Formats: sequence, C-alpha cells, structure tokens
Amino acid sequence: MLVFATSDKGGTGRSVTSSNVAYRRALQGSDVCYLDFDFGSPTAGAIFNIERVLQGTPTDGLHSYLRGEAGDQPMRLDVWDESDRSGLRGRPPGAGRLVLFPGDKGGGEFASSPETIDRCIDLLLRLEEEFELSIVDLSAGRWYAT
Ligand SMILES: Nc1ncnc2c1ncn2[C@@H]1O[C@H](COP(=O)(O)OP(=O)(O)O)[C@@H](O)[C@H]1O
Ligand SMILES: [Mg+2]
Repeated sequence: MLVFATSDKGGTGRSVTSSNVAYRRALQGSDVCYLDFDFGSPTAGAIFNIERVLQGTPTDGLHSYLRGEAGDQPMRLDVWDESDRSGLRGRPPGAGRLVLFPGDKGGGEFASSPETIDRCIDLLLRLEEEFELSIVDLSAGRWYAT
C-alpha cells in the first residue's frame, strides 16, 4: 500500500502523523518504509532521531535520486539500527522492518522532467514489492509533487 501525506499548508502534522503510522504499523509486524519527499524541509531524520540525517542527508537522498544524481537506489536507513533514541533502538520482538529514505539536506524544490517521473515510478513500484506499507511525506502545497 502506498500512502501519501499531503496538505496545502505547512505545519499541519503530516510528518508527525506519518511517523506515528509507520512506527505503529511496523510494531504490528508490517514491513514499512517512510519516504521523506519534503523537498524544502526533510524532518524525518529528526523525528526518528537519527543524528547523521537530522536535517536530511548530505548525499544520495531522495532529491538526488529523483534528479538522477544518486545512482539506482537512494540512501536507506534502518530506523531500528540507526536511531539514537533508546526507545527506537533495536527491533522489538515481532516487529517488521522500519526503513527511512531521507531527503537531502538543503534539497529545495526542483522541476519535474519525464526522467524524474520515471525514476519516481520505478522507485515506488519497487518499494511496493518490498514493503507492505510505503508512506510518502510530501512538501506542503506542492501539487506537482503529488
Ligand atoms: N497530533 C498532534 N498534536 C499536537 N501537536 C502536533 C500533532 N502533530 C504535529 N504536531 C506538532 O505540530 C508541528 C508541525 O508538525 P509536522 O508533523 O512537522 O507538520 P508538517 O509535516 O505538516 O509540516 C510540530 O511541532 C509537531 O510537533
Ligand atoms: Mg513535515
């Protein structure tokens, strides 16, 4: 299942809600991934408390991938392995995978091209095969991203 978190306005709770849904579903045993498509403000690293991607990753994040600058696969982080928060560290018994695809630090907006869209489709289809739930956290009011 693919779920998109979208709203016209910023600060409405997309990222916090998405993180909670991802976390709860993973606890219930589903393999879940979270894609930080918030081009201007990738906050998932902060919410999941992963120090090295607190404001996004310096390289190979989702923006780089969509722009064709990150090779075949964007960076992925296992939250159970990587989180610096003790409560999130270590996969609980019976839990599924919880994987974060971070956005790029200072990524910003970019125009979509047919190649960008092809890379996006390719990624989402591959993740559909691999995960039971993929949550895409979008930038506010970015209709073309949706
Ligand atoms: N259910 C909630 N109850 C109270 N505060 C919330 C809730 N969801 C989000 N917040 C707070 O609102 C602010 C914006 O949330 P965030 O998820 O970052 O919004 P968005 O991703 O839509 O920009 C944050 O400070 C967050 O802690
Ligand atoms: Mg957000």
